[in-house]
Amino acid sequence: MSVIEVRGLRKDYRRLRGGKTVALSGLDLDVPAGGVYGFLGPNGSGKTTTVRCLLGLISPTGGEMRLLGADPRSDLRKVIARVGAIVETPAMFPGFSARRNLEILARIEDIEKTRIDEVLETVDLRDRAKDRVKNYSLGMKQRLGIAAALLKDPELLILDEPANGLDPAGIKEVRELLRRLGGEGKTVFISSHILSEVRQTCDHVAILARGRCVAEGAVADVLSSQRAAGITARVGDLPAALTTLEGAGIEARIEDDALKVALPPLEGARVTKILADAGLYVSELRPDEVDLETVFLELTGEPES
Ligand SMILES: Nc1ncnc2c1ncn2[C@@H]1O[C@H](COP(=O)(O)OP(=O)(O)O)[C@@H](O)[C@H]1O
Ligand SMILES: [Mg+2]
Repeated sequence: MSVIEVRGLRKDYRRLRGGKTVALSGLDLDVPAGGVYGFLGPNGSGKTTTVRCLLGLISPTGGEMRLLGADPRSDLRKVIARVGAIVETPAMFPGFSARRNLEILARIEDIEKTRIDEVLETVDLRDRAKDRVKNYSLGMKQRLGIAAALLKDPELLILDEPANGLDPAGIKEVRELLRRLGGEGKTVFISSHILSEVRQTCDHVAILARGRCVAEGAVADVLSSQRAAGITARVGDLPAALTTLEGAGIEARIEDDALKVALPPLEGARVTKILADAGLYVSELRPDEVDLETVFLELTGEPES
């Protein structure tokens, strides 16, 4: 069963002077249980709108949603104790310590105090728990926000752009934390417009463009399904190797000091044999990696913003 299931989700925002902005135009998603799921799309593609719909903060114009089996429009109460979320920056009292902030939240949510030490430990803030939040780095503040979302020990964590505004060190801290949580069996759903973040953090990815999902699946599958990757071969005599391959009906070109062969990586042996038969010996042969950046660009028609 999918932890989050979305079918044909649509959201129109009415414009002040008439007309409407179509933020979601028939979105489908299936988020499997466990691991980190990346919801990747350029700015304005509808990520925050989706998260708000999922959390029952706004009503969609049409379509179906299920969060842990419940419809957030009518049944959110049933599952909200099992869902932790951060949309935009979580509100904390800057003059209070992390522990004090968590104590206040725990009281509001009726959660045992013992849980506070556990979440501080999880986000690696135990040593700094007595410091005022206003002296925290952005990465620490973000981890504290995640600690707050973890208080009720949710099965599903939904975070809208958790890496936003963080410096590289902060991004790394948050990434390691999210990977750890995903590895412990929680389902972590994060949105991001930063490709490298998703590549390094997520197991599954959905790519969003103009309010629609244009690709979804395991990160590796999404990459391999998009474009036939080629082979890079190193040979001493490049022009001779090129002529030989072309003579065998194989498309290739010289790029820098290597040969780019337009064949799937599985055909590497064939390339080696053809060249060796012509007395040209391959010193290195490797599959070209299809990078997520290219896929993202091809699918969304926009560079990463
Ligand atoms: N409250 C709102 N009122 C009107 N338009 C909105 C509102 N929120 C978002 N939009 C528009 O909906 C589209 C999707 O926005 P959003 O969901 O915030 O995208 P993302 O989070 O991917 O950047 C954008 O065109 C945005 O301008
Ligand atoms: Mg957003």
